[in-house]
Amino acid sequence: MSKSIVIKGGTVINPDGDARADVRIERGQIVEVATSLSGEIQIDASGCVVTSGFVDLHAHLREPGKEEAETIETGSRAGALGGYTALVAMPNTDPPQDSVAVIDFVREQGKRAGLVDVIPSGCITLARKGETLAPMAELAKAGVRLFTDDGTGVQDASLMRRALEYARGLGVTLAQHCEVAELTKGAVMNECQCCTDLGLPGWPSIAEELMVFRDIELVRITGASMHFLHLSTRRSVELVRAAKRDGLPITAEVTPHHLALTEELLSSYNPVYKVNPPLRSADDIRALTAGILDGTIDAIATDHAPHPRRDKEMSLDMAPPGMLGLETALGVVLAQGSFELRNVVALMSWNPARIAGVTKTHGRPIAPGEPANICVFDPDLRWNVDPERLASKSMNTPYVGHSLRGRVRHTIFKGTPTVIDGQAQK
Ligand code: DOR
Repeated sequence: MSKSIVIKGGTVINPDGDARADVRIERGQIVEVATSLSGEIQIDASGCVVTSGFVDLHAHLREPGKEEAETIETGSRAGALGGYTALVAMPNTDPPQDSVAVIDFVREQGKRAGLVDVIPSGCITLARKGETLAPMAELAKAGVRLFTDDGTGVQDASLMRRALEYARGLGVTLAQHCEVAELTKGAVMNECQCCTDLGLPGWPSIAEELMVFRDIELVRITGASMHFLHLSTRRSVELVRAAKRDGLPITAEVTPHHLALTEELLSSYNPVYKVNPPLRSADDIRALTAGILDGTIDAIATDHAPHPRRDKEMSLDMAPPGMLGLETALGVVLAQGSFELRNVVALMSWNPARIAGVTKTHGRPIAPGEPANICVFDPDLRWNVDPERLASKSMNTPYVGHSLRGRVRHTIFKGTPTVIDGQAQK
């Protein structure tokens, strides 16, 4: 029989308010939330926030196919260290997540690792080629709730319209990577004065915004629900704000790196800063932040994109886009200093749980009878990233030398600690 655990001395943040309370867990469930509790195992949470485990809508776990960069197990461990209890696995694996066999494999590997719930997303189109729809009904029957070709956007508007019609019938959500490919050929960084000075091919904001605009209009005529991945520009936020005002079933995410890092970093020609969409301007960051504060943006998602050192050491034009995110997300977001703690919990747990369709088990209040998927973090702790000590198999983090604020101390998944005092438990 499992021992009872008490998380002691923290501040519980719940949707209906905050309270100083201990939390007792037994057999995978929260059984009591009150002061002065005791249990067989005590976990100290003094000075910490106790809240529901984070849910990442956007993690590239690379398995199957690129286990050299990450496996489901190493990605899950990185997630647990970042306070996550659920990760949506992106579909650009090899083979891609466009069949029930691959979806089942990803889910099973997640269960085998046993550190977070791994929620496979499904491709919108076969092999993410943008030509033929994936077997969405079959995948939905196998439990897929979020469909995306992430890594590329669906270019063909007619195919996207059809995908949305199916999605509406199936009651699933399409998550779009907004990028009009004709506008980004060979591009490595945001199109700006700085990119002209550096002689680097520019990635214009309009490449994102045109697809945001197109898909908002497709949602308007189909009524299907749509989630926008990693939005990065001012105008994208404005378009989503207006679409929400019209009552359209649209949600949107931003990444920590698009909130924290700007285009000028590319002047180092260091591929660690190459990401898709590219790092943008300080003005874009202000707009993304305002979008979070007024509820236009629903979630912060990592776009955790591990790449082997060999790949990221290529020249800027050859290196693949992407950076690590799971272990640093909270510290990067809190270091921005723009958001209230409950705001951050909403963006990293409550809202993404809803978008991923996992509200029965994640993003729940800390209350008796609820599943014990819990994150305990110190909101003020300053820390630095040591790339050698990351749980991820890759090291492509841009935050070396940055002072991050707020660190996950403990993570509990299904009643079992996966992280205690910042240390992974298995
Ligand atoms: O930077 C990125 N990397 N953006 C994406 O959309 C894909 C991802 C990857 O798979 O590496």
